[in-house]
Amino acid sequence: MKEDRFYMPVRVFSGREVVRSHAKDLAKLGKKALIVTGRHSAKACGVYDDICAALDECRIAHALFDGVEENPSAATVMKARDFGLQEKADFVIGAGGGSPMDAAKAIALMIRHASEGRDYLYSAGADSSAVPVVCIPTTCGTGSEVTAVSVLTNEVKHTKGSIPHKIFPDLALIDGKYLAGASDQILCNTAFDAFAHLFESWLNADATPVSRLIAEDGIREWKKCLPVLKKEKQPDPDDYDTLMRAAMLGGMAIAHTGTSLPHALSYALTYHLHVPHGKAVCYFLAGYLNEADQKEVSRILELSGFASVEEFHQTYRLCCHDLGIGEDQLLPVIEQGCREVSSNPARCAKAPFACSEELVCRIAGFAGKQEGN
Ligand SMILES: [Fe+2]
Repeated sequence: MKEDRFYMPVRVFSGREVVRSHAKDLAKLGKKALIVTGRHSAKACGVYDDICAALDECRIAHALFDGVEENPSAATVMKARDFGLQEKADFVIGAGGGSPMDAAKAIALMIRHASEGRDYLYSAGADSSAVPVVCIPTTCGTGSEVTAVSVLTNEVKHTKGSIPHKIFPDLALIDGKYLAGASDQILCNTAFDAFAHLFESWLNADATPVSRLIAEDGIREWKKCLPVLKKEKQPDPDDYDTLMRAAMLGGMAIAHTGTSLPHALSYALTYHLHVPHGKAVCYFLAGYLNEADQKEVSRILELSGFASVEEFHQTYRLCCHDLGIGEDQLLPVIEQGCREVSSNPARCAKAPFACSEELVCRIAGFAGKQEGN
């Protein structure tokens, strides 16, 4: 029998005004916080004000680095690390979507290893200890608040991918109210990312009975929000909480299994053609489902409210829209992605079926055929 593992060391608090009500938990982590955000949304959705109020209440100093771009680069991480050291920050709070939270983990690593340079981010097997990290999500996809993953853009190698260090946040504070200002597109692109996490975790060679329980619960939560994503219903505060919960459960599921081929294939679309992450991942998800055990696929599709793979894919296109990229641009990027993924044994090992270049191309080709209809 295969060994079963479960490890989820993040203290998670979910609920309304959870940032303010856990001010004392923030204060326990250090004397000065480096707050890491994107350029605008953390201020617009109110999370930045809530963090400042909580820290001020406990007389904890703070400094803001609001220069995290989408798909953050190693260069940005190093810039933020240097700023954090200059400010004498001894813990990091990442607030926003996946980009600020992933960057916060890498920044916390590099603050702890202050004498190391950029290459340390990519040194497998090196000490992964970091100063404490808090993650506060304001979108409903990544689940980064409960994973040890930090995905960065490697601007030297022209790729995007996880760094080898595993850094779980110490604390995750989850409040659905931060979703209220998100655009329909951000809501859909990130919710479909969560959907992919749940499915890629369930249909994964490393899935365990416990990771599948978590994924199934997330799929049930996700289903409740389908009318909102399809714009058949106006979202209310409960819907935002449910979307956040589905994303968190997706994060917990992939914290155990990792993602699979759709995520691996998506990185080229995002890096070269700037397709938003969740939209890029789900572009490949239907093809992945077609290759998996159809009995298992039907079971989890039913849980998510879809009668067939085709129905899922049409709903994804309805919510996230077609890529709108000409074949002359799209095909070379997809072909390159297929070659890279199929020649990477670690990537292929996540699929619960035998993986070949032909099969990866079939997965990638399915969406193209649908889009061409
Ligand atoms: Fe993802």
